[in-house]
Amino acid sequence: MITNLIYHVCPDNNSKIRGNMEIQFINEPTMVELLRVIKYVNRNLKLKSLGKIATNAPLSDDHAVLWFHKYKIGEQIYSIAIWKDKVVGVSHLDVFHGRRNHGGKLAITIDADFRGKGIGNLLLKNMICQCKKKGISIIRAEPTEDNVKMIQLLEKNNFIVEGRAKKAFNDDEKGLIDLIEYTLFI
Ligand SMILES: CC(C)(COP(=O)(O)OP(=O)(O)OC[C@H]1O[C@@H](n2cnc3c(N)ncnc32)[C@H](O)[C@@H]1OP(=O)(O)O)[C@@H](O)C(=O)NCCC(=O)NCCS
Repeated sequence: MITNLIYHVCPDNNSKIRGNMEIQFINEPTMVELLRVIKYVNRNLKLKSLGKIATNAPLSDDHAVLWFHKYKIGEQIYSIAIWKDKVVGVSHLDVFHGRRNHGGKLAITIDADFRGKGIGNLLLKNMICQCKKKGISIIRAEPTEDNVKMIQLLEKNNFIVEGRAKKAFNDDEKGLIDLIEYTLFI
């Protein structure tokens, strides 16, 4: 049984999910949902579909305890996309508290079978909405230079390039490649 469902995204969000799929968004996860996120991550790790920055080792259920703690003390913000009781995408923000501006580092992944349907876009808009409500004014993201989909998703949502971390990521096939430093000022 899924609890604490938030069925709507921000009022200014006008995205459509392709294929008339009804996606639910959970912004206040319980341990039950975080354990489902672990299953989702491990399923996609097996498929090697979570992108280059993902860990190779499967996650243990202990991670859910840590994530839940961080969420409770305000160090992490979540938006989890659910379709028919199944986690199909996750966005989370690691929050940092500045003297003037609170900000966070964004991570977002969509299940390999559910990409290109507009879910990533909705998850991101949902995350931006939550940040506004929680007083977070800066969102940062660091895709690898060859992650075209993520780069397009960020630019579509008004993130701007602030810098480039040269040869900061060691790619198995290409060797050292750049990370692009994107920021959204809310
Ligand atoms: C990047 C990712 C989150 C996008 O999620 P998604 O649900 O497939 O994206 P959406 O369907 O919402 O598409 C949003 C935008 O992303 C871009 N995009 C999505 N698929 C794309 C593709 N195949 N080629 C180019 N751009 C693409 C487009 O700009 C698209 O907007 P549009 O549909 O108006 O053209 C997803 O591909 C993913 O999980 N990738 C692996 C994990 C990863 O790399 N995460 C980022 C780590 S920094």
